[in-house]
Amino acid sequence: MAERVDSLYRGASELVALTDGPPRGAVRGAELARAEPIPDASIAVRSGKVVSVGPGSELQARFHAETEVDLSGYVVVPGFVDCHTHPVFAETREEEFTLRCQGADYVEIAKQGGGILSSVRALRAAGEEDLAGQIADRLRRFLSLGTTTIEAKSGYGLSTQSELKSLRALGRAAGASPLTVSATFLGAHELAPEYREDPEAYIELLVSEMLPEARPMADSCDAFVEEHVFGLRQSAKILGAARELGYRLRVHVDEIVPLGGTEMVVGLGAASADHLVKVSDRGIHELAESATTAVLLPGTSFFLRKKDHAPARRLIDAGAILALATDYNPGSCFTQSMPMIATLARIHFGLSPAECLNAMTRNAAYSLGFDGDRGTLHPGKAADFAVLDLPSFQAFGYSFGDNPVVMTVKDGVPVALNRTDFEPELSAQISGI
Ligand code: NIG
Ligand code: FE
Repeated sequence: MAERVDSLYRGASELVALTDGPPRGAVRGAELARAEPIPDASIAVRSGKVVSVGPGSELQARFHAETEVDLSGYVVVPGFVDCHTHPVFAETREEEFTLRCQGADYVEIAKQGGGILSSVRALRAAGEEDLAGQIADRLRRFLSLGTTTIEAKSGYGLSTQSELKSLRALGRAAGASPLTVSATFLGAHELAPEYREDPEAYIELLVSEMLPEARPMADSCDAFVEEHVFGLRQSAKILGAARELGYRLRVHVDEIVPLGGTEMVVGLGAASADHLVKVSDRGIHELAESATTAVLLPGTSFFLRKKDHAPARRLIDAGAILALATDYNPGSCFTQSMPMIATLARIHFGLSPAECLNAMTRNAAYSLGFDGDRGTLHPGKAADFAVLDLPSFQAFGYSFGDNPVVMTVKDGVPVALNRTDFEPELSAQISGI
């Protein structure tokens, strides 16, 4: 007798479930290129979890489903896990982009009080309700782009009150959205304007007040470790205190100048070291020997018009855990699109579609501690996946500038639909989101 399931998503022309690798943990080196597409494939779902993935004919004979969704002609991949984003901001900064296009430099703009500090002024003035509403719109857009899990940072408040407001607004928006959101406290994003003359006093405020008060609302702690922001000694103090409080560490390091932040955060047992455009040979070696994920953000180099790119191939060859993310923020990278990041990773890093996919699903989920139930479509994990309008998986990253995602399924349920050629009842199901 056929086994009952809630839904059968059937007949995808290719399904890349990443079930050819282990269910948990990250993949390194040559393993990053392992992603075998299953032709004419289906996914059976019960209670939001994957029951089985495999050839369509086999699953159709085995399962009886309440709902069936025809995915013929489409490619299915695990939902994207965007493990580095800054969606908690109150105003966009398009005038700064115009200045940069005319040749102005990101760090120069920051030193003149623009950049992150202009976002701080806007966020401090915004009401919590308004902020939560803006974040909710951004979470909907992530879903429509095939992203089912994000890491989201605060960091445009830089005072106890405004950082807590940021995390509360994020929590409200996340609580009302199907997206899985892991919050990160980034009070050390920039020196607060009131403390320009006394950086040590701001670090003291972070350690003694902000970190403990933010802890109930944030899983991780981040810092912008950079010559013009927080130096190695200052960052180590903040991050060490965060670790004591039980935060996971995910840290901006070695983006603009080679400061050695990578070695410092690997030494602290960080979950991730992010950016890494200027990482040293020693930093690469230490990452390879560690469980710290190297999170590369090619959208930022692109959007800041930088010629240098993170050494992705050297990191892979050395055996580091590689992940890709958007770095979505109003200043240095204004995109929420993981498919666009795949295009940039293919062009600038020379990654294959399989390497991109593992880096933006399985390894990204691992860096967030979610690999036990997300990141691949192994039976028992959450049924989080994106349905792509591509001729084949080999075309992942090849088409750019439009959204290849036609449907996003989160915990077994369609949560975004970008095409009208699906059954009408599906549209009705998602209209409340
Ligand atoms: O990752 N590095 C710091 N944070 C962001 C930029 C934030 C901003 O410019 O608003 C980044 O690039
Ligand atoms: Fe960032």
